[in-house]
Parts: sequence; structure tokens; C-alpha cells
Amino acid sequence: MRNTFGTNVTVTLFGESHGPEIGCVVDGLAPGLHVNEDFIAAQLALRRPMGRISTARVEPDPFRIVSGVYQGRTTGTPLCILIPNTQARSEDYVNLKTTPRPGHADYTGSVKYRGFGDPRGGGHFSGRLTAPLVAAGAIAIGALRSRGVTIGTHIARLAGIADRPFDDLGEDVARLGSLPFAVLDEAAGEKMRAAIETAAKDGDSVGGILESAVLGLPAGLGEPWFDTMEGLLSHALFSIPAVKAVEFGDGFGLAEGRGSETNDPFRMEAGRVVTASNHNGGVNGGLTNGMPLIFRTAVKPTPSIGLPQQTVDLSAGENVELTLTGRHDPCIVHRARVVQDSLTALVLLDLIQPL
Ligand SMILES: Cc1cc2nc3c(=O)[nH]c(=O)nc-3n(C[C@H](O)[C@H](O)[C@H](O)COP(=O)(O)O)c2cc1C
Repeated sequence: MRNTFGTNVTVTLFGESHGPEIGCVVDGLAPGLHVNEDFIAAQLALRRPMGRISTARVEPDPFRIVSGVYQGRTTGTPLCILIPNTQARSEDYVNLKTTPRPGHADYTGSVKYRGFGDPRGGGHFSGRLTAPLVAAGAIAIGALRSRGVTIGTHIARLAGIADRPFDDLGEDVARLGSLPFAVLDEAAGEKMRAAIETAAKDGDSVGGILESAVLGLPAGLGEPWFDTMEGLLSHALFSIPAVKAVEFGDGFGLAEGRGSETNDPFRMEAGRVVTASNHNGGVNGGLTNGMPLIFRTAVKPTPSIGLPQQTVDLSAGENVELTLTGRHDPCIVHRARVVQDSLTALVLLDLIQPL
């Protein structure tokens, strides 16, 4: 029963979707880091639902930092962030304790917590708990920026519609930061939003792929074998509810080519070792090689859908049909984008801070 991640900078996540408050404790932050509350609020706004393409549960997220910050800077002691839940409507979830939603954590959570877990709104498994991660991530993003490290994530695919690939990484990453719907090609973004609306009208949901680039990392970050850069990032990225796959560089595509096509040749550029291509996504042997770190996550379609679904009644031991009420996201991909940036920043700060 553990809810803590990290080695040097640890994050402990707590709360339930319909409890009074959710939050996290970030420990191990160096003293003196700037804590920009306006930036935290702006990052939380990027995670917030967006009109017809999102759930109708819109939480204003008036976060409070109750420890670990003095006069706008970290003190080096545990930093605790609290965010109230103000828009819960628990009556929509009363039957989910005994009739679990297919694809959600109602069944597995009830087994793990022996029926004592809070089932309302997905309880501790709810995407709502990504809000404190975004708040903590905003502090990590700020700390990384001051060391010249920047992160950008775009919706590479949604409902089968493709965004344009990364091109000029410096420009693209800088642009993505503040976009509410993070695409590089706005025409593709319009088609994606239309596809979400169509799925919502059908009582259904859609998924997609988030692609990230991290710029400015030194070579040699990560550990061989167990705490590889890929391993640590995947560990964190799989904590995003609905993420079902992670790949680095050309990922699964690497399996299709020959070594002559998939190796990234080294060369000298302005006195620096660089690679001519980046099929390996900036990682060799689990360590960064100084090229941009590139990775993708697959975000599945939201499990809660309006269409009738087959499930079981756990108390009666019978097969039953489930038709959901409640407010749900017809797509999570665009909201998960800032969560991906945040977890990436926390992993990287954990590695970079002691350097
Ligand atoms: C920002 C965000 C919002 C989410 N909103 C919903 C939602 O409204 N309804 C839902 O069924 N799942 C939602 N999810 C996904 C579920 O929490 C997730 O699918 C569930 O916990 C099961 O975990 P798994 O898909 O990783 O197996 C959301 C996820 C995120 C990241």
C-alpha cells in the first residue's frame, strides 16, 4: 500500500475524487527554488475540462501550499499542496461499489482495498488526483527551466487523426507550453475536437497518443540496468490513469528496421558530440546522450461511457448490464498532456537536482 514515487525528490499523493481535499507532499526539494503560484495556477488551468469535449465537472482548483515555502521560495522541508474538491456529485456513483465499470479501477480497487476503499467517482484512482501532480510538477518545471531544461508535449494522434510531427524542436516546444489544446497543426486540432464531440454524442469515448520532447539535458543522466532513463520515466508515466503504453524514440518501430537504419551516427558539431539522427530518442544504455529526449504515451479511450456495458453484480454474483450516469470525459488525451509534462519534470528533477 504505497503512494510515493522518487528517490531524491519524492512525491506522495493522497486523496479521493469525492473526499474533501486531495493533495501531495513533495519532499527533498532543494532550498531556495522559486515557487511561482501564478504558474502553478496556469498549469492547473491546462488540466481543467474544456467545454463540450470534456466532463461537465469543472473544479476551480484553488490550491493552497501549506508547508515548505517561505517568501516565494522552497525552504527544503516537505512541501504540502492541498486542493479542495468542490464539485463532487456522489449520488451518480452509488452502484459502482457492486457493479464495477469495465476498463476502470472499480473492481481491482475493491479487491486491493478489501471493499473499504472510497468508490465515489473512482476514489483514489480518479483522474482528479492528477491535479496535485500538476501543481507539484509546475514547481519542478520552473526548477528545470532555470537549468536550461524545457519540456513540450503535443497530441500526436487522437481518434486516428494525426498532428504534424515535431519539426524545429526549439520553436515547437516553446509554443506548446501554454496551448490549451496542444497541437502543432491547428487544422488537425479542429478535426480532433470534432471527433471527440462525435464520440460524446454517441455516448462513447476516444483515445490518442501524446508525444514529448525534452531539450537541454546533459549526457549521462540515468543509471544502467534498473534506474534507466526509460525505466524511471515509464514508471512515472504509467501512473497517469489511462496510459497503457510508453515508447522512446522510434520505439516499436525500431523492431522493423535494420541496424544500419536504426543506429544514430555520432558526429562532432561545434566541439560537441551529437547524433545525426535520433531513432533512439536521446537514450543509449539507459543514459541520456545529450540529444533531445523523445517519448510517446498511448492514452486509451475513457472507460466511463454512456452506452450500456456488460459487467457483474459483485454482491449478487450475477452478470448484469450497466448504464452509467455521471459526468465523464469523452476523451482524456488533451487533459493528460500537462500531467505528462509534470511527471516528466518530477522525474528529471529527481535526477538533476543532486548534480
Ligand atoms: C485527467 C484525467 C481525467 C480522467 N477522467 C476520467 C473520467 O471522467 N471518467 C473515466 O472513466 N476515466 C477517467 N480517467 C481515466 C481513469 O482514471 C483510468 O482509466 C482508470 O483509473 C483506470 O486506470 P487504467 O486505465 O490506467 O487501467 C481520467 C484520467 C485522467 C488522466
